[in-house]
Amino acid sequence: MTLQELKPKIKSIISQKNLSTDQRLLEICELLETNIHYYNWVGFYFKNGNKDELKLGPYVGEPTDHTIIPFGKGICGQVAVSNKNFVVQDVAAQNNYIACSITVKAEIVIPIFVNDENVGQIDIDSNTPDPFTDSDERFLEFVCKEVAKLIS
Ligand code: SME
Repeated sequence: MTLQELKPKIKSIISQKNLSTDQRLLEICELLETNIHYYNWVGFYFKNGNKDELKLGPYVGEPTDHTIIPFGKGICGQVAVSNKNFVVQDVAAQNNYIACSITVKAEIVIPIFVNDENVGQIDIDSNTPDPFTDSDERFLEFVCKEVAKLIS
């Protein structure tokens, strides 16, 4: 399935009012991990209350020890502070990086904004080197805007 074809599926998951927010977020993770071969770990992190740290939300892929990430630490923690997309085509070239699995070659993190506030992010790890294009960024920005509707 192409990224464009996945967009209506994201919208339909968001509109499933019979499911909890976390169930819907998990369905989004499953949809992306299943249909995009170079998305191998897909998860959400959200700001943990009023603390300057991220807390792991729904995800699919290998379990990770990094359920709490302080702001500024790793790729995720940097996005919590910069409010900008972070595309890492080669994780080995990053010094502020938190490794979750030795199979991961690349990572993309896109922030989620509610009322202009950075409330969390989608985080995707890839086992394929150099896999992400502008299309992934635009698509994941779309996903984050849809998720923002769910949590606002
Ligand atoms: N690699 C991330 C940590 C989270 S895991 O990828 C699930 C980082 O550097 O922030």
